[in-house]
Amino acid sequence: MTCIRSEIIGFGHCLPPKVLTNDDLANMVDTNDEWIRTRTGIQSRHIADKDLTTSMIAGDAVAEAIKNAGISPEDVDLFILASVTPDNTTPSSATKIAGRLGFRAGIPAFDISAACAGFIYALMLADNMIRLGQIKTAVIAGAECVSKIIDWTDRNTCVLFGDGAGAAVLRAREGKGTSEDTGVLDVCIHSDGSLFDVLKTNGGVSSTQTAGIVEMNGKEVFKHAVVRLSEAAEQVMKETGISSEDIDWFVPHQANIRIIESVGERLNIPQEKVIVTVDHHGNTSAASIPLAIYENMLSGRIKKGDLLVFCAMGAGFTWGGAVVRL
Ligand code: UT7
Repeated sequence: MTCIRSEIIGFGHCLPPKVLTNDDLANMVDTNDEWIRTRTGIQSRHIADKDLTTSMIAGDAVAEAIKNAGISPEDVDLFILASVTPDNTTPSSATKIAGRLGFRAGIPAFDISAACAGFIYALMLADNMIRLGQIKTAVIAGAECVSKIIDWTDRNTCVLFGDGAGAAVLRAREGKGTSEDTGVLDVCIHSDGSLFDVLKTNGGVSSTQTAGIVEMNGKEVFKHAVVRLSEAAEQVMKETGISSEDIDWFVPHQANIRIIESVGERLNIPQEKVIVTVDHHGNTSAASIPLAIYENMLSGRIKKGDLLVFCAMGAGFTWGGAVVRL
């Protein structure tokens, strides 16, 4: 039976020009390149300068995605930005970007806060609105300046994160309703608020009148991340009726190479099919998945027609997964 699918017709990205290496960090806190590389897989990350904001890098990523999709800003019917580091508490950074890029007045534009799972949350919402026939074209983005909510004297957290933005354009297209279709084939999103305290900022607007800085029980996050990322990927593959052998690329959230490898092993996905960018991006939170996909499209590894499974997990806890044929 035919159905409406959301086809991803363009990606875009933006990374702040400044690169911070492990050796740079070793000059700032009591750490070293060997510890960071072996415990996290990270070698360098991009960091936004003081004047560079989330809406600026997100706007550049969205502009590139729109250009690559071959559409114009007036074609956009919905814009969702996933971020925990907005420019202003209100209005949303999505409206700021919508204004800058010339999206039509009247379209829904809003931010969502789902930490590292934010891009998948946005994908779920946009895909549902497209499949319901409410809209034809959606733009979703994940963008963060995590560096601005980091305690740069805390070696437990400051070595882990990076800044960046990734965006995708989704457009309605008729499919056959099978796993051979192009587009978003399945998405799942979840949360467990009982783990709120494990990874959080130590303040916020209504509690401390500040944005707060990131605090984390790394070991606890690690343990849950391996389980939840695997579960989400398993769920969407099962719902789509595919197995790990069918997929071309597995794109897990990029937080720690040891998490990525553990999840790949649990799912029986050979490491050659696992996309890794954490080495040079660090953990870019909501931007991690679109950045990883697009960068590997640019290098020619990920191609049109490839079957992708991705999954992400972050503060909240929030997590989710998706199956997409490009
Ligand atoms: O998207 C979700 C966001 N977050 C994550 O996914 C993070 C998940 N967690 C992790 O990636 C890992 O737990 C970490 C990389 C954060 C930490 O790795 P670990 O193997 O769990 O190390 P640990 O916390 O057990 O720390 C081991 C030691 C400690 O020293 P002692 O107490 O054993 O003497 C730490 O103080 O390593 C020390 N340490 C460091 N040493 C050098 C912690 N951070 C550093 C550092 N450099 N940057």
